[in-house]
Amino acid sequence: MTSEWWRSAVIYQIYPRSFADASGDGVGDLPGITARLDSLADLGVDAVWLSPFMTSPQADGGYDVADFRDVDPLFGDLSDFDSMIKNAHTLGIRVIIDLVPNHASAQHPWFVQALAAGPGSAERARFHFRNGRGSGGELPPNNWESIFGGSMWTRVDAGDHTPAQWYLHLFDPAQPDFNWSNPEVRAEFRDILRFWLDRGVDGFRVDVAHGLIKADGLPDHTPRDGADSMGGDGGEDAPYFGQPEVHDVYRDWRILIDSYPGERVLCAEAWMPTLRESALWVRSDEMHQAFNFPYVFTRWDADALRTVIIESLEAFGEVGAPTTWVLSNHDVVRHTTRLALSADSPQGHGIGPLTPGKPDPAIGWSRGRAATTVMLALPGSAYLYQGEELGLPEVVDLPDEVRQDPTWFRTGRTRYGRDGCRVPIPWSADAPAHGFSPTGKSWLPQPDQWNAYARDQQAGVPGSTLELYRSLIAGRGDHGLGSGTLCWLDGWTPDVLSFSVEDVVVIANTGTDIAPAPAGMLPLIASGPLADQHAVPPDTAAWFVEA
Ligand code: NOJ
Repeated sequence: MTSEWWRSAVIYQIYPRSFADASGDGVGDLPGITARLDSLADLGVDAVWLSPFMTSPQADGGYDVADFRDVDPLFGDLSDFDSMIKNAHTLGIRVIIDLVPNHASAQHPWFVQALAAGPGSAERARFHFRNGRGSGGELPPNNWESIFGGSMWTRVDAGDHTPAQWYLHLFDPAQPDFNWSNPEVRAEFRDILRFWLDRGVDGFRVDVAHGLIKADGLPDHTPRDGADSMGGDGGEDAPYFGQPEVHDVYRDWRILIDSYPGERVLCAEAWMPTLRESALWVRSDEMHQAFNFPYVFTRWDADALRTVIIESLEAFGEVGAPTTWVLSNHDVVRHTTRLALSADSPQGHGIGPLTPGKPDPAIGWSRGRAATTVMLALPGSAYLYQGEELGLPEVVDLPDEVRQDPTWFRTGRTRYGRDGCRVPIPWSADAPAHGFSPTGKSWLPQPDQWNAYARDQQAGVPGSTLELYRSLIAGRGDHGLGSGTLCWLDGWTPDVLSFSVEDVVVIANTGTDIAPAPAGMLPLIASGPLADQHAVPPDTAAWFVEA
């Protein structure tokens, strides 16, 4: 592989619970992933990123880790992990794993010890315990609201200790936040990094990379209205996000990771409001990549897309880092649905049976494919989320009783949350659970119509979404687009996005009139049928090359 592979890589996110279930219990697992790696090699991806599979009570789909150095029995064991990574490497696929340093599970031994040890103890100093406000300490220490809804503080049972203190959790009460001012926490995570690097991982996607350090004194804070579920719109001044000292942690990790051979990487999940702020995580002595959340939240609109692409290339370019591009992940409404929303986008809060302005599936299908056709032409590294290569839409009609996202419960069932993008993916039309599990079990129910989306219905079928993705990824490699230079092209109306990267011209039509093909060029790949003279219809994108 070329040096600095991560600058242009296509990285495929596996959400292990929902990818492939070998054991038949209805939850995906590591042997299931191993058995399906060939389909990812066939798709042409450079790397996979696995959401957490470590020991966890699964209060937040595994983002509540009770043992950072072991595999949860739900997913297999460490030998299953070793065989998965060995097989991936044999196929030329690198493996990035999720690391969750902001918080532990409430069942993590350190937190259990902290509860037992009582106020003022060294055990409690690994977390954020505080006395409450009010005469009896009955009010939470400050007004912070959890990203999942409700207070960020939970009061513990006093037991033998008084007063009964409160502990901080940015997310669910089952996810107490570590105190990163404590050197013991820092040492522990250095050791965890080494544990997985020694097992051969190629890098880490770092969960809540902007949240580890809280402002001194934990001052009150009220986020702006409309903050999304991960807090990306919480405002620049949130005292629990983007504190300057957080960068010292990653400078330290960078030194550690660079001491290993093989170009291992760190990718920040830092939901900062602007691109310039996100770029702080990828300065030359910190991480390699940071997710581009402003791009995720861009509407299907040529002007908005142009602006975010220009700003992304500038902001990341200024610090010498590659831009990343991403349209879907396990926290947002799938882009095949999201880009067709007609009401204000409720992404982050999910879509459910009662959401107004439900998207038209046909428009979503066209825009979803067109958006990917744009994204995979852009210079930088692109992230895909499992199932998008099948064109899967968000599942909008999950019954209330199957929902599992803590957001749903913490908001009194007013925010649907993220279950709709996490439904297990279909592999074969005529198999139990559409080939997801041998028994037909599936931890979230799959819609019957998913027969049509199954991989075996799309493989080798010209025009299928799977074949579109495969040709885009191959074409991106053949034409060197990931490491290419983007130039904007004039000559189209403002609702048409027109640019070139290397020898490929991309035309994406977000308007309502047909857009002409570039003169003297022929289509190489198109997201949908083209019109006469290779003109590009609305909600369609195409790559053109010299005739
Ligand atoms: C971000 C993860 O992507 C999300 O799924 C999780 O709920 C939170 N961090 C908390 O770990």
